[in-house]
Amino acid sequence: MRIDILTLFPDMFMGAFEHSILRRAQDEGLVEIHLVDFRKYSLDPHHKVDDTPYGGGCGMVLSAQPIFDCIDDIRTEDSKIILLTPDGVCYHQKFAYDFSKEKHLILICGHYEGFDERIRTLADFEISIGDYVLTGGEYASMVLVDSIVRLLPGVIREESHQNESFNHHLLDYPSYTKPRVYREMSVPDVLLSGDHKKIAKYRIDESIKRTKLRRPDLYKEMVDDA
Ligand code: ADE
Repeated sequence: MRIDILTLFPDMFMGAFEHSILRRAQDEGLVEIHLVDFRKYSLDPHHKVDDTPYGGGCGMVLSAQPIFDCIDDIRTEDSKIILLTPDGVCYHQKFAYDFSKEKHLILICGHYEGFDERIRTLADFEISIGDYVLTGGEYASMVLVDSIVRLLPGVIREESHQNESFNHHLLDYPSYTKPRVYREMSVPDVLLSGDHKKIAKYRIDESIKRTKLRRPDLYKEMVDDA
């Protein structure tokens, strides 16, 4: 997979993709991540990328031209274009799975008070990572890249995805490691029983209990799907 991130602040990504699983995925050639500073596409003599809003109002609006020209330059017939914006559709794990099957993703990070509405026409998807406003799409695009790259074949073990949160609309079950008792908190006996059937049942029950309590919306989806 190739991922291009269109941003005015490539330095904000310093370190973000340089560690652990994301670093390894790049080193093994499973993903290529490119940061594209779209300022270089501005036709303005001073490389301006924003302007005052028509109709008045405070703040500056990102201009269409640099982003359109940048997209014209890098898109191929395999590209899917994702615009990060607080008024997009709320991101969830199903999007991560779907996006992980694409060959080329282009992520557009908006910034400042907004962007020229015509930029939306470029996007196959408009995505928000939650109901809060960030200073721009940079952190949102880091969230997308991390959640997508970990799902690419060969990046982490296939079994690791099987029981993780949001599969079958369920949150993950509780996990413990050594020691058996820590600050008077004990590991549940069933996990020490060696009875794999019982352990599997405990885990499923705990997943359901936790989902019902913490995410009644997901729980309802699970019940409706059953
Ligand atoms: N840009 C600003 N806020 C955002 C959000 N919540 N999600 C995606 N992009 C954003």
